[in-house]
Amino acid sequence: ILPPVESGEDGAILAKDILGNPIPASQILAEAPGTRALVAGLAGDPTYLIVEENSGLNPMGIVNNCTHLGCTFPWNSVDQQFQCPCHGSRYSADGSVLRGPAPLPLKLVHVAVKNNQIWISPWTELDPRTQAKPWWV
Ligand code: FES
Repeated sequence: ILPPVESGEDGAILAKDILGNPIPASQILAEAPGTRALVAGLAGDPTYLIVEENSGLNPMGIVNNCTHLGCTFPWNSVDQQFQCPCHGSRYSADGSVLRGPAPLPLKLVHVAVKNNQIWISPWTELDPRTQAKPWWV
């Protein structure tokens, strides 16, 4: 028996839970559409996965690390914003800055589901929100 594959091409890794166990896609996809589910992603970064209306995952994951001073923050489903509790920065659903002091949009990662596994990989191409090279590359 082969051990489960835990890393793939292009630096992809499996999304993990807080104990370091890979999370089956079915577990996240059982949540209501619009859910932002927190997983451990690249380098263990807490990362939001977004459950879509079509019961798939959005291919864009959002890293839960405020670009001001690095606090983690919750999703406010009423306001449809990420709201940082440390100094009041607000981000839209795609991680664009709505209100500072955050200077930059939230970091993105790629999210892909294959065989009920959730793969997270680095986002290195243009940032679709700014049409610029990502600040984190
Ligand atoms: Fe988020 Fe300062 S760390 S607003």
